[in-house]
Amino acid sequence: MNDPEASQDRYALVGHPVDHSYSPLIHRLFAQQTDQSLTYELIDATAEEFEVAVRGFKAAGGKGLNITVPHKERAFHLCTDSSDDAREAQVVNTITFAGGAIIGHNTDGSGLIRDLTVNLEIELAGKRLLILGAGGAVRGIVSPLLEAGVELTIANRTVERAVRLQALFSGRPEFDVCGFDELSELAEQDIIINATSAGVRGEAAPFPGEIFMPNTLCYDLSYSLRDTPFVILARTHGAGRTEQGWGMLIEQAADAFEIWRGVRPDTAPILVKMRPGQDANEPSVTD
Ligand code: ATR
Repeated sequence: MNDPEASQDRYALVGHPVDHSYSPLIHRLFAQQTDQSLTYELIDATAEEFEVAVRGFKAAGGKGLNITVPHKERAFHLCTDSSDDAREAQVVNTITFAGGAIIGHNTDGSGLIRDLTVNLEIELAGKRLLILGAGGAVRGIVSPLLEAGVELTIANRTVERAVRLQALFSGRPEFDVCGFDELSELAEQDIIINATSAGVRGEAAPFPGEIFMPNTLCYDLSYSLRDTPFVILARTHGAGRTEQGWGMLIEQAADAFEIWRGVRPDTAPILVKMRPGQDANEPSVTD
C-alpha cells in the first residue's frame, strides 16, 4: 500500500501545551498556496521530554521544527549552530536539520516587524515604543525593534528581570527599563506592545490607564478569536488603535516556511482568512 504522507517532508511544532495551535492550519495554507508537499504535526513535550522529542523527530527523518512556549530558550541551547538573530536573543523558534547539525533561527522579531511595517503600515523609525513584559517573548523582538530605530522602553512587573534583559543587549543601542509604578511618568508612547502573560493567565494587568492615549497603537502579542484582556483594557482607557498578534503569528510562520522551503508564501490572503472580523468578533476561519 502506498501511503501518500510517507513521501512528504515532515515538520512539527514542539511546545507545551500545543493542542490549540494555529500553526498546522497556517502551514497547510502556505503549502497549498506554494504547491509544496509536506506534513505539519503537533508534538506536546514537557521540559524533560523536549530534547528526546527533537532528536527523535530528527532521527525519524523530520526536516524542521517550530518551537513554542516554554521551550524557545531550551531550544537555543540544544542547537549546534544558530543564525545571528537567534544567537543574539538566545531564543530559537525555528529549527532546521542539516546532516548532524541542529540549526536554530528566530523569526519572531522579523515577523513582528513585518506585521507592524507592512501589514499595519507603521513607520517605526523615531517612534516611542513601550514593551510591557520582559520574559522570553520579548527577547526575540528587542534587536529588530532597535534596528528599526524605535526609542524603546521595557517595563516589567519584576524590574530586575528587565535590567537583566538590558544587560543581554548591552552591545546594542541603549533602551530604558522601568517598573510598572513608573509608567505614569513616561512621555506619551506611539506604540505599546503587551508581552506579559497576565491575560492568558486570567490575571488582571496592573498597568495605569493613562498610558493609553488616542494616538497610541496598542499591540498584544497574544491573539484570540475574541478581544484579548489587554485590547479591552487599552480600548476602555481610550487607546485609538488596538491590534492582536495574528499578523505576527502568520509572518513569523512565513519566515520559518521560507527557511525550510526556500519560498516565502504570500501572507496577505492568509491574514484575511485568519484575522477575526473587524466589527463582529467572528473569525473567518476556525481550525
Ligand atoms: P513568555 O515566554 O511568554 O514571555 P515568561 O518568560 O514566563 O513567558 O514571561 C512572562 C511575562 O509576563 C513576564 O514579563 C512576567 O512578569 P515577571 O517577570 O514579573 O514575572 C509577566 N507577567 C506574568 N503575569 C503577570 C501579571 N499578572 N502582571 C504583570 N506581568 C505579568
